[in-house]
Order: sequence, then C-alpha cells, then structure tokens
Amino acid sequence: MENIKIGVIGLGYVGLPLALAFAESIEVKGYDINAPLIKTLRKGIDPNSELDNFDLNQMNLSFHDNIEELSDCNVYIVTVPTPVTSLKSPDLRPLKSASKSVGSVLKQRDIVIYESTVYPGCTEEDCVPILEKFSGLKFGEDFKVAYSPERINPGDKKHTLRNTTKLVSACDTESLEFVSKLYNRVVEVGVYPASSIKVAEAAKIIENTQRDLNIALMNELSIIFDLMGINTLDVIDAAATKWNFLKFTPGLVGGHCISVDPYYLTYKSLELGYNPEIILSGRKVNDNLSKHIVKRTLSFLNHRMAPDTKPRVLILGITFKENVSDIRNSKTIEVARELMEQNIDVEIYDPYANAEELLSEYNLELIENIGENYDCIMVAVKHRSFESFDEDYFLKISNSNPVLIDIKSTYKDQIHAMRYWSL
Ligand SMILES: NC(=O)c1ccc[n+]([C@@H]2O[C@H](COP(=O)([O-])OP(=O)(O)OC[C@H]3O[C@@H](n4cnc5c(N)ncnc54)[C@H](O)[C@@H]3O)[C@@H](O)[C@H]2O)c1
Repeated sequence: MENIKIGVIGLGYVGLPLALAFAESIEVKGYDINAPLIKTLRKGIDPNSELDNFDLNQMNLSFHDNIEELSDCNVYIVTVPTPVTSLKSPDLRPLKSASKSVGSVLKQRDIVIYESTVYPGCTEEDCVPILEKFSGLKFGEDFKVAYSPERINPGDKKHTLRNTTKLVSACDTESLEFVSKLYNRVVEVGVYPASSIKVAEAAKIIENTQRDLNIALMNELSIIFDLMGINTLDVIDAAATKWNFLKFTPGLVGGHCISVDPYYLTYKSLELGYNPEIILSGRKVNDNLSKHIVKRTLSFLNHRMAPDTKPRVLILGITFKENVSDIRNSKTIEVARELMEQNIDVEIYDPYANAEELLSEYNLELIENIGENYDCIMVAVKHRSFESFDEDYFLKISNSNPVLIDIKSTYKDQIHAMRYWSL
C-alpha cells in the first residue's frame, strides 16, 4: 500500500466522492473530459451539490483535463457513464474512450479498476483489449485489472460509500488482495470479494434489475387496483404484515441506473440467444407509467373543464427522484411534455433542479415562485422541501374543485376537501 497514486477517470456522482474519500489518505488525481467541470472543481465547487463538508482544495487532490498529467499514477479507477442508446443498447463509448485514455498512460505493474456499471464480461472482453492496444502492454503480465461496482445512492445520507459493503473482484488473487486493502481504507464496513470479475459485474446489474422489477410489479398492481377503486398503498400496507412480503411502492422509474442497467443484462442475454421476457416486461411497464399518469390526470381535468378553457397544472418536482438535482431520464419530464401536448398550461417548480440545465437539455422552464389558480397540482417527487405543504396551501393556490395528483402518496390521508388521486 506504499507509494500509491490514484487516478480517478470521470468525476461525476460516483467519481468525485470516491476521489475525495481516497484523498484523505492517498494522493489522488481526478481526470474528466469536461474541461468546464475541471475549472469548477478547481474553484472548490461541487456541481451536483451532493457533498457535505467537503474540501475540494485538500492537499492530496488535484483536478485535470489532460490525461498526460495522470501518467505518474499507478492505480486508475474508471467511473465514467454507461448509458443506453435510443434503441436501449449499451452505449460503451465513454467507457471505451476512458479505457483508451488510461491505456495511453498505463505502465508496467499498474492496475486499472472499473467501477462503471456494465454487463458481465464487459471489463475483460471490451475494456482490456483497448488497454492492451493503447499501452502496448500485456494484460495479466504487465498490468492488472479489477472491477468494483459503485453502490452509492445520491441524495441518500444514510447509505453511503463508507457504510455500504463494497463488492471487489480482480483478475488474480494478488490483485484481489490489493483492491480489498485499498477499498478497506475508505469503506468502514469492509469489502466482499466476489469470485470473479464477471460475478461482480452481474451482481451489480441484478441489484438494480431486481429493484426495477419489484417496482414494475407494484406499478402494474396500482393500475389494476385503480380500476377496482382500491388504494394501492392500503393494499401494500396490509400485505406487508406478512413476514415474507417485500414492501415496494409504485412510482416513476427514471434516472440513469435502475431504468438503464437492466438493458445491459437483456442486451447480453439476447446476444447469447435468450429472450429475457420478465425483465423486459418490467421495463415496459415502468416506461409506460408516465402515460397512465397523464391519462388519469386528463380524466380529472376533462371532467370539469369547459371545452374552450386551458387547464392549469402545477408540477411539484421534476428531478428523477427525491432530494437530488439530477434530471437525467426523469420520467416526470415525459409527463410534463405529454400534458403540454394536450394543450395544458403546465408550470414546473423544483428547488433542487437546475433551471439552465432543464432548459438546455429538455427545453422546459422552471418557475421560481409557485403561482396560483391551478386546476391540478401534481406532486411528482417527494422532495424534503415539499413536506411543509398541506391541503390548506394547495387550496389557496388553486381554482375551485382542484385535483391533487399525488404520485408517491406523499399526502395520503391528509387530503379531505380536494379531489385526490395517487398511484
Ligand atoms: N449516479 C449513481 O447513482 C450511480 C450509482 C452506482 C453506479 N453508477 C454507475 O457509475 C458510473 C458513473 O455514473 P455517474 O452517475 O457518476 O455518471 P456522471 O454522468 O455523473 O459522471 C460521469 C463523468 O464522467 C465524465 N466522462 C465521460 N466520458 C469520459 C471519458 N472518456 N474520460 C473521462 N471522463 C469522462 C463525464 O464528463 C462526467 O463528469 C455509471 O456506470 C453508473 O451507472 C452510478
């Protein structure tokens, strides 16, 4: 563990906190292709507002947009995005390009640790050949490779890098020992060594696939119970009194992990000749939930509006989940757009989201202050700052006979004078 210098490749939600954690005891160089981001970080600003009490100016940490400046590192940790294409296939371009960059500075006895979420086999079959090609070195003899998936949950102050067991895997026993010791420095609860890199890759993918499917089941149930006039949460609470019932709740599944990772597994499965019907069905149910929400919202609005009026809808929360600023793949954006296409006047309020980003990425505007005369208030995300809202407030900012669309049941049993609908 002596003379280690870590290079972290990709300084986003995963890479930045990891770089900071290691920098408490090891020299770390952070690298990102996003030059403006490097400038922001050098000023000591966390662009995602995720880090508490952090010091980006600490002695052990420096930020770079030139990979050459990381040529004196001997451990490289790759934390770049692994999105899907419009056809829902793995988009490995960032991972391949990061491997190329690392390959260009790789030296004998270095180790490359991948943390990005990938399908089983990706590290060894897709990344290693690129490292070999651009370094001119031989995998296994000259350099080693490890895989340790990230399990952080942005916005969650309870489950952190330090108190969540870290899965580690590597190409040989010696490297596995090395990465175990390395991560033990920052993970207080320790590591779990997986039996192979492929096992660790698969484990990460199924963590999110399982969650996706469990939520899909609850979403499907909520559609069925809606038709039956039964409250889904009441049913779930009742069922959860049985010891082996797993308590998941319905909701929009967006973001860049749970709604994306299953496609990495289904892609590989299809490539190997097996059609993963259950996983893909779950994805379909979750992807179509926004349409169901729009349909139900319209049914309330059409019921009461005169044909020539334009209903006013206030959407509270546009980020992909609660208490984060991340708007990528937010399903509420789809809901907002679909309502707008129906000639509805939609206003979006979200104190967590970045207005400029929402405008440039999705051409949607945020309002700075909540207005009034709404026909419908849709609470899409359970942000902490919405907890102080109550029925009196909703009535105050509404027209007569408004409806509260409470997607996550934030105000369940608290609404008596308004029409109310939840998943
Ligand atoms: N965000 C999460 O909650 C989370 C949790 C667990 C795992 N993961 C996985 O971790 C990986 C990273 O996710 P993230 O949320 O941190 O992504 P992110 O988009 O927040 O950050 C990735 C960073 O990598 C940079 N980058 C892209 N290509 C690069 C390249 N070729 N070289 C150097 N930098 C490059 C981007 O500019 C960006 O700053 C993904 O595989 C993701 O699935 C994410």
